[in-house]
Amino acid sequence: MTTRYRVEYALKAHRRDALIEFIKGLLAVPFVLHSQPTAVAGDVSLPNMAIEARRRYREIMKDVEELINDHINNERAGTPERSKLRFLVPSVGTFFTPLFLEAAFVAQDSRRAISCRRFVAPSFNDIRLILNTAQIMSLTTQNGPLRLVTFDGDVTLYDDGHCLSPHNPVIPRIIHLMSKGLCIGIVTAAGYTDSARYKERLYGLLEAINASPLLTDAQRKNLIILGGESSYLFKFDATSDTLLSGVSRDVWALDEMRLWTEEDIQKLLDIAETALLESVSTMSLKATVLRKPRAVGIVPIVAGAKFEREQLEEAVLAVQKTLELSEVGRRLPFCAFNGGNDVFVDIGDKRLGVLCCQRFFGEIKGSETLHIGDQFLSAGHNDFKARMAGTTVWVANPAETVSSLDELHDLLENGMAADS
Ligand code: IMP
Ligand code: MG
Repeated sequence: MTTRYRVEYALKAHRRDALIEFIKGLLAVPFVLHSQPTAVAGDVSLPNMAIEARRRYREIMKDVEELINDHINNERAGTPERSKLRFLVPSVGTFFTPLFLEAAFVAQDSRRAISCRRFVAPSFNDIRLILNTAQIMSLTTQNGPLRLVTFDGDVTLYDDGHCLSPHNPVIPRIIHLMSKGLCIGIVTAAGYTDSARYKERLYGLLEAINASPLLTDAQRKNLIILGGESSYLFKFDATSDTLLSGVSRDVWALDEMRLWTEEDIQKLLDIAETALLESVSTMSLKATVLRKPRAVGIVPIVAGAKFEREQLEEAVLAVQKTLELSEVGRRLPFCAFNGGNDVFVDIGDKRLGVLCCQRFFGEIKGSETLHIGDQFLSAGHNDFKARMAGTTVWVANPAETVSSLDELHDLLENGMAADS
């Protein structure tokens, strides 16, 4: 590696998604070769440019689709080292299903006019959305059936720190999925030991489920909340004041979670607390520590005060490194992340959270599960680990969650023909 490459890597590796960067690099070549930044408006060459760029982008997406198929085949055959995609993108993980990248490109190109652009190359967001569509297309066709959809809370279902209020447009869409017999899990970092706090955050959805004439009582039971990443499970319960009731860990905790000791949990949280306090002191943050039974965080002393993104990221990376270097941090899974205006370290993570949902609903497989979240960077983001438990869609805000659910709905009802 050249020095410049090393410096770039050290500074930015945690802020990049390697697969998206790889695809972006491949698409940049036809963009540079075919775009015509010097043509003037009305030039007859422009429509031809778009046709040619579209053909080349499409071919590249098909090639990446094939690389992913080859990767899946090699993983299944027990020869991951033979995967060409792993050679090209060493950090690439597991794909639970093939991805229909070519068809997804065609669909997103018609919405985002990617191949008509002369000055703006295919971007991170273009590719993120193509990957999302490709995943949804795959899950709704021969690679299904989709049985479980899990959602992150903040920034995915509602704005950061807000509640899921009755007018939120995700509500009818979630109810529609439940009416089709799908199971729903809300896998959130928000960690509360009692159901009243979850009722406060999610009341719009819970009350709508309770009142909906579209759902049978059996379907209503297909909603659960997994709080604190993977620490507390509540199920929908129409007989409870909070419309939720807690479920004993014996029912849903994974075998590996049963081995954790309370002593280790508190030891890890002590180390995390010390590291977080050090960040507060070195950066003079006006923050206070919030310690919970299975989490520790720093939050603003004055409600509403804002921290800088760089400060939050620094605190996350510092506590994460300290924990990785500790003995207990190697034994116990934890998740350090930037919550938008706070930093938390939780015991467990969303890989375990999604696996617990799969187990609770009866051994649902990763290829039958979709997790929708907003935090998929490798460090400091808490939905990232969910990729190890099922397929994922990466949204930037609650409006994109609604669009993804609409896409899912259209494809479930009408198949691929609906979009092409
Ligand atoms: P998520 O996006 O649904 O995973 O929720 C993340 C947000 O929940 C964080 O930004 C915190 O503000 C909030 N939160 C409340 N309690 C906890 C906790 O115990 N651990 C982590 N985050 C928490
Ligand atoms: Mg979130």
